[in-house]
Amino acid sequence: MKIENLVKIILLILAFTINKNAMAQSKYESQIDALLAKMTLEEKVGQMNQYNGFWDVTGPLPENGDASLKYEHLKKGWVGSMLNVHGVEQVRELQKLVVEESRLGIPLLFGFDVIHGYKVQAPIPLAESASWDLDAIQKSASIAADEASAVGLNWTFAPMVDISRDARWGRVMEGGGEDPFLGSKIAEARIKGFQGTDLSAPNTIAACAKHFAAYGFAEAGKDYNTVDIGTNTLYNMVLPPFKAAVNADVKTFMNAFNIINGVPATGNSMLLQTILKEKWNFNGFVVSDWDSIGELAAHGFATDLENAAQLAVNAGSDMDMQATAYIKHLTNLVKLGKVDEAKIDDAVKRILRVKFELGLFDDPFKYCNPEREKTSLNHKDHHQGVLEMAKKSIVLLKNENNLLPLSKQQKNIVVIGDLADDKNSPLGSWRLASDDNTAISVLEGFNAYSTDYTFVQGPKVFDDNSDFLHHVTINSTDKTGISEAVEAAKNAEIVVMVLGEHGFMSGEGRSRTKLDLPGLQPELLKAVYEVNKNIVLVLMNGRPLTLTWEDEHIPAIVEAWQLGSQSGNAIAQVVFGDYNPSGKLPMSFPRSVGQLPLYYNHYSTGRPDKKPIVFWTHYADEKNSPVYPFGHGLSYTTFEYNDLSVKVGDSDVVDVTVTVTNTGNVAGEEVIQLYLRDHVASVVRPVKELKGFKKIMLEPKNSETLTFTLSTEELGFYNQDYNLVVEPGQFTVMVGGCSTNGLTKSFKIK
Ligand code: GLC
Repeated sequence: MKIENLVKIILLILAFTINKNAMAQSKYESQIDALLAKMTLEEKVGQMNQYNGFWDVTGPLPENGDASLKYEHLKKGWVGSMLNVHGVEQVRELQKLVVEESRLGIPLLFGFDVIHGYKVQAPIPLAESASWDLDAIQKSASIAADEASAVGLNWTFAPMVDISRDARWGRVMEGGGEDPFLGSKIAEARIKGFQGTDLSAPNTIAACAKHFAAYGFAEAGKDYNTVDIGTNTLYNMVLPPFKAAVNADVKTFMNAFNIINGVPATGNSMLLQTILKEKWNFNGFVVSDWDSIGELAAHGFATDLENAAQLAVNAGSDMDMQATAYIKHLTNLVKLGKVDEAKIDDAVKRILRVKFELGLFDDPFKYCNPEREKTSLNHKDHHQGVLEMAKKSIVLLKNENNLLPLSKQQKNIVVIGDLADDKNSPLGSWRLASDDNTAISVLEGFNAYSTDYTFVQGPKVFDDNSDFLHHVTINSTDKTGISEAVEAAKNAEIVVMVLGEHGFMSGEGRSRTKLDLPGLQPELLKAVYEVNKNIVLVLMNGRPLTLTWEDEHIPAIVEAWQLGSQSGNAIAQVVFGDYNPSGKLPMSFPRSVGQLPLYYNHYSTGRPDKKPIVFWTHYADEKNSPVYPFGHGLSYTTFEYNDLSVKVGDSDVVDVTVTVTNTGNVAGEEVIQLYLRDHVASVVRPVKELKGFKKIMLEPKNSETLTFTLSTEELGFYNQDYNLVVEPGQFTVMVGGCSTNGLTKSFKIK
């Protein structure tokens, strides 16, 4: 071998080694090692133990039972983190107990589900994803971090980055939709928002990429159900947002409840060790999901809690959320030689690293400032920020004859629907710390524009006996209110119907087998339509719904999701034209549940083309297409795309240029979307994949020319060995305002 080649190889090995260590290191390694050396085995295991705080710690201590045991363990330094303890007084009480009474005084992490806001609620994450506005999404997360850190929290169990194509699954509301490219960009934006540029700052908190991995592929959309996907889907659809999270320096990961290919994620060393900690060189820690270690026995993967502890820690789960498996069994498992203490040391170093980076060793009470608690929560700037986020999240699905926007002088409006007056559902299901009945309702939003409207509730849709733990009861029998609504609609000039799901119909544990408007709402809508066709349908829902009849009959349809604390104001500003809607769907809206899972980036199959005979990929009783596709969203103006050009440069860099013009009469934002097809490869590739997008504002008649640069990350895919490869061959690029149409050009990669 030539000398210069040998030198190159040595340099490459050196670079990889330095990089590998560099990624795993922080500036605290010597302090971490010094502290670890002082710790007993019990104290190390204690750091890997997270308890739920279900009692008022500032109140009288429960004499015995769980809480007093947890209190004892806190004093011994046998707890690394608490979840669901929030509020400066509560946090200070426990932090003081641990820091002052335990032998080493290692501060606690305080985690909480700050999913889309703490007190002020932003839109649900699926709604935020519809904005395709990464700056707004990052700002929204920073608002959540500001409030969470003001009440003593230093860790949020967000962002949830699970890709999902099945709207039956209730947790689609919590994620970034069906596409891994959009999902990856959103994951990065949310993590930057939560963690900021300085994790030791008092208003930033550690983020948590969850649920690792493939939870969104639960069979039949049934929560916690089996996941059985191949490596091609795992590598190219599921993992990218998680890898983006590591690249964005996320500090923690959380396990998924499900199995993947027969092995529970919580005990899956291929996921946790091989991919996350070795290939991706992740230097944070992995927390289990709630009791997911304990559930290894229910899965039939562990014989009992002790065996579950052994399997989970050996696979790479570093912290036990509430299963008490680690605190009960790890010390003994090490003494029996069933778990290597080096494994414990690695987990503890990861946990300590996050605590050092948060600055907790410099000041364990840095998040316990009662003044901040008073001034941050519900701050007017937070409400303004979530209002901007909400407006950008709204998607105009249909607008026949430009029925919208309504004139501000519009008279004789009738507003119909339970949800128009609902101040809770817009807050979504992950609203643990928000105050009940605090969302701006549609009616309240309208009041800022028009007093000339009449509200008629119509039939009661939901018997609101639901809460975070229990299902909503839906009224499907008591039709009182339909005739009143029809009567009122008869003479109205415009009917605004606010229909959709209750806030607790989506979210964890809330899968549905039917995706129609719940209860009597379809009957109400059709009855009103019979007497007045000038209907604006405003949807408030946490997932895609089946809206075939609605799309065929209703002239204007606005997707308003669950938009958080400022919901009604955002909806009113869109309906009355003070904000030109700019959202695009992050998930396909199916015609029927039978089409699920339904997604735009599907594979061709061997029989993609329609034939006069039945032997091709289709249904006998339903179209293949969605009612509304991924990337769909209208505006009060129109946009035109011209002059698409492609320039293939050296080493697989491709520049794609396009000119976009606002051809309408009002200013508006457009999300220019770039899709790519790799026609032939060693594994089949989707018929199209989002590989770039830009959201721009254009004044009427103005144009902008944009260039997208595609390189290995965009042109490539992960092969069976999990290597990112670009294979030579024919590609087609499509650029437009939706996934279903745009300008196209083909090019070759040699
Ligand atoms: C729940 C969820 C997870 C959440 C955790 C703590 O079961 O699956 O997303 O962060 O428990 O509340």
